[in-house]
Amino acid sequence: MPKPIFGGNWKMHKTMQQAVRTVGELKKEIQNLDEVEVVVFPPFTALSSVKAVIEGSSIALGAQNMHEKEEGAYTGEISSSMLLDVGCEYVILGHSERRQYFGETDNQINKKARAALSSGLIPILCVGERLKERKDGKAEEIVSVQLRGCLEGIDLQGGEKLVIAYEPVWAIGTGETATPEQAQEMHRFIRITLEELLGKEIAYSIRIQYGGSAKPDNIKGLMCQPDIDGALVGGASLEASSFARIIKYKE
Ligand code: PGA
Repeated sequence: MPKPIFGGNWKMHKTMQQAVRTVGELKKEIQNLDEVEVVVFPPFTALSSVKAVIEGSSIALGAQNMHEKEEGAYTGEISSSMLLDVGCEYVILGHSERRQYFGETDNQINKKARAALSSGLIPILCVGERLKERKDGKAEEIVSVQLRGCLEGIDLQGGEKLVIAYEPVWAIGTGETATPEQAQEMHRFIRITLEELLGKEIAYSIRIQYGGSAKPDNIKGLMCQPDIDGALVGGASLEASSFARIIKYKE
């Protein structure tokens, strides 16, 4: 199995100075920890200064979004080559906030994922159902449609890497976490769907992160589940100490 992966999604938080301070503290807190992978996702404006702090450490850099085109007249957008240029290895795609507030569709996310993969970035592809969809018994159907739409035409046969984040929308920023059993059930479903789409070997090489109010006090239960390979953490990653406690969940 590949290493578990923990991402800190800082969303629209932190000035350059705050980002540099947080990542500096994080670097100290998780020194010599090599059994997990750690990625921070600062806002675009802090990517370069955070990169300077993590240079030579085991913390990797990621962006929270990108445009599917390489360059052109797309005011306000950022391309994969720009992200690579600033030192990013990862990019979050299709986060539920992008879907909800910016109208991103599976089709657009698919274009972005293809662009990211062909440029050498590792996409963290987010999927997850809303509360009503879960209550209506449609959670798996929704996640299946999202996965199939976002992965259309992608086979990873060239050895490209991809991460999936299962983030039930009702658990994001709400303090309400999926129980380890609920999360495992969906992660298992995602694994089986990946197996069908990409083949068994690739499906088992893909890390499936849980996201949605992951915290130091609930991470252990989640990480005990066989198909949970890490977490994408929002609120609890803003403070280095709480993010470090999540990353060091085994201690
Ligand atoms: P949260 O956010 O941990 O604050 O719930 C997770 C995410 O949106 O990635």
